[in-house]
Amino acid sequence: MKRWQVMKRLLPMLAIFSLLMAGCGRDDLSVLRPQGPVAQGQFDLIKLSISIMLVVLVIVFAISAYVIVKFRRRPEHKDMPEQVEGNFKLEIIWTVIPLILVLVLAVPTVKEVFAFGEDHANDKDAIQVKVTSHLYWWEFEYPQFGITTAQDLIIPTNKNIAFELKTADVIHSFWVPSLSGKMDTNPDGTINRFSFSAPKEGVYRGKCAELCGPSHGFMEFKVKSVSPESFETWKTAMKAPMVAIEDKALAETFKNQCLTCHAVGDQGGVGGPSLTGIGSREAVASILLNSETNDEGNPVVENMKEWLHDPQSVKPGNKMPAPKDLGLTDAEIDGIAEYLANYKLEY
Ligand code: CUA
Repeated sequence: MKRWQVMKRLLPMLAIFSLLMAGCGRDDLSVLRPQGPVAQGQFDLIKLSISIMLVVLVIVFAISAYVIVKFRRRPEHKDMPEQVEGNFKLEIIWTVIPLILVLVLAVPTVKEVFAFGEDHANDKDAIQVKVTSHLYWWEFEYPQFGITTAQDLIIPTNKNIAFELKTADVIHSFWVPSLSGKMDTNPDGTINRFSFSAPKEGVYRGKCAELCGPSHGFMEFKVKSVSPESFETWKTAMKAPMVAIEDKALAETFKNQCLTCHAVGDQGGVGGPSLTGIGSREAVASILLNSETNDEGNPVVENMKEWLHDPQSVKPGNKMPAPKDLGLTDAEIDGIAEYLANYKLEY
């Protein structure tokens, strides 16, 4: 084959692999950059098993290559070579070596797996969080503080967070790659428990890791690790009474149409995600990132408008009724978007 023909075949393959690899580049969704002790332990297991596999691979391939070259058939070889089988020494060697390797892998794996599943449910020092997954959002309840929020899980640094996971509908999976492995939320009513902690302040992206419907890929959440002081401030702010909309008519519409399902401060109902402090969340509807600059000026307001005007186009299959179908005018929707986008919590 001519050289350019080889290149013609290799180039598209290289291009495809580069594209695939580029998809692995997001810092905050990578298990390869652990940000907490649980994720670190799991990453160490990955490194250990890959190292063992690499050593085995290199040795086996080297021996195979050597044997293939050294004992290849030559023109002077006319007869069947001598057949040797059942070498006792060899049999022992290739049984014992894998056994040792399996043990080296198994001991730390079992240790880490049990540490990962450690139950802090009765640990007075841990923060208890009840996670409920919904099509396509996450609810976080803090039973110790009487607080329920959605989408942004606020935690203090260096505390064990003891999770209790369940689902309101189908199976989902709770996953914060940089802090720990996945844990399913099961529709059969069983409750899964696990815990993790985040030593450093920061925002860690979380994902639903179980195919749950058309917007599965958009079922994101954030874990926001803040200083213990900020956490206290946040708790107080979450429990403050609702700041009402100034315009009386709009406030009435908001109460009748939105607060039936959503809670804001001390007002509102259940079923939909809490909207308390929604303006200070990392994203609107978990995917319209508020941090991304936007031509129109205030990205939170623009994201909120985009969401409220047509929730289905942002997150197909979600259960929120479109405000316009509830009879809200464009002006009312814009007004509510402005109000929610500016409903921020200082912490
Ligand atoms: Cu929920 Cu995928």
